[in-house]
Amino acid sequence: MRHEALAIEKEAERLLGKLMHVDCDPRGRSWNLGSCRDIAPITLEINRLKKEKDAVVLAHSYVEPEIIYGVADFMGDSFHLSVKARESRAKVIIFAGVVFMAETAKILSPGATVVVPDRGSGCSLADSITGEDVRKLRALHPDATVVCYINSTAEVKAESDVCVTSGNVYGIVAALPASRIIFVPDRLMAENLRVELRRRGVDKQVVSSDGTCIVHDEFTLGQVEAAREQFPGLRVVAHPECPAEIAAAADFVGSTGAMMRYVKETTAPYFLMLTECGLVGRLEVEAPEKRFIGGCRLCPYMKLNSLDKVLDALRAPRDDQIVTLDETLRGRAGRCIERMFELAPTD
Ligand code: 13P
Ligand code: SF4
Repeated sequence: MRHEALAIEKEAERLLGKLMHVDCDPRGRSWNLGSCRDIAPITLEINRLKKEKDAVVLAHSYVEPEIIYGVADFMGDSFHLSVKARESRAKVIIFAGVVFMAETAKILSPGATVVVPDRGSGCSLADSITGEDVRKLRALHPDATVVCYINSTAEVKAESDVCVTSGNVYGIVAALPASRIIFVPDRLMAENLRVELRRRGVDKQVVSSDGTCIVHDEFTLGQVEAAREQFPGLRVVAHPECPAEIAAAADFVGSTGAMMRYVKETTAPYFLMLTECGLVGRLEVEAPEKRFIGGCRLCPYMKLNSLDKVLDALRAPRDDQIVTLDETLRGRAGRCIERMFELAPTD
């Protein structure tokens, strides 16, 4: 009993060492020894079960900080987590993120049991288009190469020629031989792509579908202008899922991984992060000397993940939590993702 109490105390101190820096908590919590003691039995149990079951936890940077710093083996952006899923030899992958990311992990690591803590963790982009919609677009533009953003279902990937992430979209599309590109499912990223191709002097027509991210399409130019006026020297850092006028007004645009690297390497009095708040939480922990002025937004899908659900998923996953894919579909979707790794092996 005494041994157990000591283990909890030690774990609470380990958690506090990280979480004490989180100001931008999605549930407004301020982390102290008491709140870390409350979650320590859960993180200890998850970390024990991971060993027993030969499991790893992959966590996107947008999920709650106690998942990232309490139980994640790998954390980061979609590209990084795909690489980790592809390299993984674990029997079980618990994917704390959204369903399309877990599907991607299953495509890349078919022998593993891939489990999502909450089956409802969709994505407004991935849910905006079907495989049938892609087939219709291809029929309209038979000469085009179909490029899908990784925020898409396995079915959409299976109908596409090459997958891209927010970190490699510009480089991959610029290097493709086709002069016409069908880009799905993000209309705003397609617009940013057109701007970037023009800037690089690359002549391509980009046809897009109509999806948007419900988090990133809400940022406004007025918000950026007001922040710049109020905070001289401010650096504005945006994700390419933002509208083009926001990307144009930002000092830096990139994947969540690239946004983190930019902030860590840049000296500025304040940063405005035009993305999901989880990324601000990560930066508060990993670059505690930086100052953020708020303005980030919550992704309701990412926030469906919780430590309790990760524990359930690990202990005894329900059928609805286990990702299954038809083998032919998985093979076709896998070729689309492997093409990305051939064209851009690193981010
Ligand atoms: P990243 O791959 O840049 O992390 O983006 C994923 C995402 O869902 C952004 O909204
Ligand atoms: Fe999808 Fe937007 Fe949430 Fe990312 S932030 S998972 S793109 S809804």
